[in-house]
Amino acid sequence: MKPVTPDTSQKKTSITLDPKTIGNKAAYQLIIGSIVPRPIAFVSTQNAEGIGNLAPFSFFSGVSSHPPALMISVARNSDGSKKDTLRNIESTGELVVNSVGEWMIEAVNQCSAQYPFGVDEMGQVGLTPLRSERVKPFRVAESLIHLECRMMHIYEIGDGSEGSATVVIAEIILFHIDSTVYREGKILLEPLRAISRLAGKSYGKISGVFDLPRPKLPPSPLRE
Ligand SMILES: Cc1cc2nc3c(=O)[nH]c(=O)nc-3n(C[C@H](O)[C@H](O)[C@H](O)COP(=O)(O)O)c2cc1C
Repeated sequence: MKPVTPDTSQKKTSITLDPKTIGNKAAYQLIIGSIVPRPIAFVSTQNAEGIGNLAPFSFFSGVSSHPPALMISVARNSDGSKKDTLRNIESTGELVVNSVGEWMIEAVNQCSAQYPFGVDEMGQVGLTPLRSERVKPFRVAESLIHLECRMMHIYEIGDGSEGSATVVIAEIILFHIDSTVYREGKILLEPLRAISRLAGKSYGKISGVFDLPRPKLPPSPLRE
């Protein structure tokens, strides 16, 4: 097999930036512009007194299916303090990830305002609470998918100052899927109308979807 060689025939200009020299804010801009589109986890939690909290997180991904797990990354507030979502997860170990559809993006965005600890954003923005089955935080009735989760691991990234974050890995202990987006074990993309986060104030809708089958390599003597 021939080794891959870099193409030097065309001269391309590029900007090379070392994160150690550009500062946290510039690095943040490059990350949110480079890692696109990002799904949005609309995370409901409760504090130890049972007061709810709701906030969106786009540093969010699936992690594994055995056990079924996902991650969110919660950055520090600009004064270095912990966001309410993180405080609640640390004290109760429970969260619900609610999906975000086009019809609710204004309310989702409104929940990203810095409400004081102990104020439940769900009531403030007019979304409807729905009791969960295995965890205490309420689900958001307007969402078509709810993932009831229990915290598994917490990893601190950075020294706790602005720009640092805490990665929460959580096990999905119950899936709730609206029947309008469920068929034969799969999620239907069209009725879900999921919204993604891009950079700055920009969001994306899903369009131009196409199918691409996974490649099958021809039989190789090495693999036989
Ligand atoms: C679409 C969207 C995505 C966001 N993603 C993140 C994220 O991944 N991590 C984060 O720390 N903050 C994120 N934020 C900001 C938080 O939602 C915001 O800081 C919120 O006030 C946190 O609420 P809490 O203090 O109630 O936890 C996002 C905001 C929006 C609108």
